[in-house]
Amino acid sequence: MAKHLLEVKGLKKYFKVGRNQILHAVDDVSFNIEQGKTLGLVGESGCGKTTVGRTIIRLYDADGGQVLFNGRDVHQLNRKEYKEFTRSMQMIFQDPYASLDPRKTVGAIVGEGLKIHKLCETRQEYTERIYELLETVGLSREHASRFPHEFSGGQRQRVGIARALAVNPKFIVCDEAISALDVSIQAQVINLLVELQEKLKLTYLFIAHDLNMVRHISDDTAVMYLGKVVEKAETSELFETPKHPYTIGLLAAAPEADPDFEQSRAKTLMSGEVASPINPEPICRFAGRCPYARPKCKQNEPELMDVGNNHYVACYKVQEGW
Ligand SMILES: Nc1ncnc2c1ncn2[C@@H]1O[C@H](COP(=O)(O)OP(=O)(O)O)[C@@H](O)[C@H]1O
Ligand SMILES: [Mg+2]
Repeated sequence: MAKHLLEVKGLKKYFKVGRNQILHAVDDVSFNIEQGKTLGLVGESGCGKTTVGRTIIRLYDADGGQVLFNGRDVHQLNRKEYKEFTRSMQMIFQDPYASLDPRKTVGAIVGEGLKIHKLCETRQEYTERIYELLETVGLSREHASRFPHEFSGGQRQRVGIARALAVNPKFIVCDEAISALDVSIQAQVINLLVELQEKLKLTYLFIAHDLNMVRHISDDTAVMYLGKVVEKAETSELFETPKHPYTIGLLAAAPEADPDFEQSRAKTLMSGEVASPINPEPICRFAGRCPYARPKCKQNEPELMDVGNNHYVACYKVQEGW
């Protein structure tokens, strides 16, 4: 088995949004995740996190680059291989209510993948497996006959997790999976995800705009800004010695619990013009907001470089030590 369960290399996903207008949602993103580990992906709304997740699991075709899962290129799999692969990778979404069919019982929702992949031989085995999955996520078998609207937000997210686990995945993209929940419930769901990771040897891509959650759950953290990873390192290294001016700004704004407030604070801290992801120039995308920007930053695009301790930063100031 490859050392890294997931290798993302130079991934690009562009959207055509108008005549000659190409939105670079994900623009040359690379990272690896080791088996059993969690990579946190953070950045403000619109920076491309969800598009990274969706392109990894091939809900979108890539416009460049590769996604290697266990050494195999996800975007080159034929139909049969792809169906097998969809068992290995699952995604948990921000809004469990929107992603759970309101007309189906929770049992039927959790059992979907079991049916699609024909994982149970008998009706009884199917029912037992659903009960087992519900119990695994802290719900009970009585919940199987109920409907999503009868559940609280935290319980619905547990249903979403049970549904993802049904097919025995190896890798799960958690896309803002807990962002919509009350703070007290967030911690419970995070703890469940951590327990499940240990028990089932799961590998996570954990997407969030809440830095505190990412810090708690991730082994490594990558920070995105307008389609680019601008900094990545081991989580403790990144949070204790952030280097990119954008990361520093985000962290300075982080202690607040309310995400909207958090973002507005980050914005005042980093005033200046936010660049557009449409037809971006090959310069530092943060330069318009960066208090340290020099002419070079508005002429060339810094690459991610290891500045020591496997700490990667795409910033001339850091790389050149101004
Ligand atoms: N299907 C789409 N068509 C056009 N633009 C899109 C589409 N999905 C996302 N985008 C754009 O791509 C950028 C990244 O979006 P997204 O990946 O959802 O960011 P995040 O998850 O970090 O909030 C945004 O500018 C968004 O408007
Ligand atoms: Mg998103």
